[in-house]
Amino acid sequence: MKKLYLICMIFGLLHAGNNYSTKSDWLLDINTTNGKFMAIQKQFRGFDLAMVEVGYRFNTFYYSIKDKNYDLALYNWDKIKKAMENGIVRRPKRALDAKSMFLNSQYNVMRKALQKHDAKAVAEAYEETKILCNACHISQKVPFIEVIDPEYRWQPIR
Ligand code: HEC
Repeated sequence: MKKLYLICMIFGLLHAGNNYSTKSDWLLDINTTNGKFMAIQKQFRGFDLAMVEVGYRFNTFYYSIKDKNYDLALYNWDKIKKAMENGIVRRPKRALDAKSMFLNSQYNVMRKALQKHDAKAVAEAYEETKILCNACHISQKVPFIEVIDPEYRWQPIR
């Protein structure tokens, strides 16, 4: 233990003169407006983070259907749409597929089934949704991202 402490101290001393910074004004320190916007734009990321949100919400969405909590399912369904819409603002090249395979099609089918609290129609629309998510992944050249039924709840809500 003592030895480890000594090694850590030596390591710390060796690196005392490095350039590591804990400054937090990474954005304010950029001195052109354009540069600032470029930096913000980069942090917003592209379609990938939109899809991380879609995947995250898809988890709660799946369990809310199982629980027949259609209000919670609708809540997440609308957020999935919002995430995808924001995604195509950032990556317009994804817009055509996003619209034809989801926003102008399956989104509405599922929404109607949920509003009617029609368990059978919701179950059918759910299966179609997975197929369409994956069809878009194939079309967008990410066929290795396969949407499956979630195995665990990620949120402490029901
Ligand atoms: C525009 C067509 C399109 C549709 C529709 C679509 N996806 Fe995606 N998805 C993508 C693309 C493109 C990526 C890879 C994004 C990247 O790397 O920039 C992706 C990636 C993902 C990822 C991985 C995100 C990560 O980086 O970890 C998840 C999860 C995901 N999609 C879930 C879904 C689910 C669930 C649906 C259906 C509700 C869906 N997707 C519908 C295009 C789509």
